[in-house]
Amino acid sequence: MQKSIYPGSFDPLHNGHLDVIGRAARLCDSVVVAVAVNSAKNALLSAEERIEIIQDAVAHIPGVSVVEFDGLLVDFVIEQKADCIIRGLRAISDFEYEFQMALMNRQLRSDVETIFLMPSQEHIYLSSRIIKEIASTGNDVRDFISEKAALAIGRKLPHK
Ligand code: PNS
Repeated sequence: MQKSIYPGSFDPLHNGHLDVIGRAARLCDSVVVAVAVNSAKNALLSAEERIEIIQDAVAHIPGVSVVEFDGLLVDFVIEQKADCIIRGLRAISDFEYEFQMALMNRQLRSDVETIFLMPSQEHIYLSSRIIKEIASTGNDVRDFISEKAALAIGRKLPHK
């Protein structure tokens, strides 16, 4: 595979995301981490903050770039001349939503394939939502996200 797009809200990027990016980078010549701007309307972090956190975290992985996108994912994939979409799949609970998105994307553009990668078992339970919930109680979340991300969400969450 030459070029893949790894889309998401990344509010914020966590170690499970990073694991998937590493796996995609080993399979593809280049990986574009595509940060959804409008799909994440209720995002805690701004697009700029989310992008900065990801850029910092992927700096050591060759072939990975980070951009924001708006509108339909399949249009972005075509615009980028990419070969496929990468999505992480953690558990059966993810499957229905991912299945629906992948099939809708295929309906919109039959030439755009979605490839699912499983993160390592140690990250399987991670989700940005749960991490924000834990952080909002004043607990340390640096086992799950970078120091930079922890600081960024700490600044945004109400202090307990
Ligand atoms: O990290 P998330 O929130 O699960 O990512 C979801 C995302 C951003 C990949 C998805 O909402 C998306 O592709 N949004 C762009 C709009 C779009 O193309 N919608 C139709 C896809 S079914």
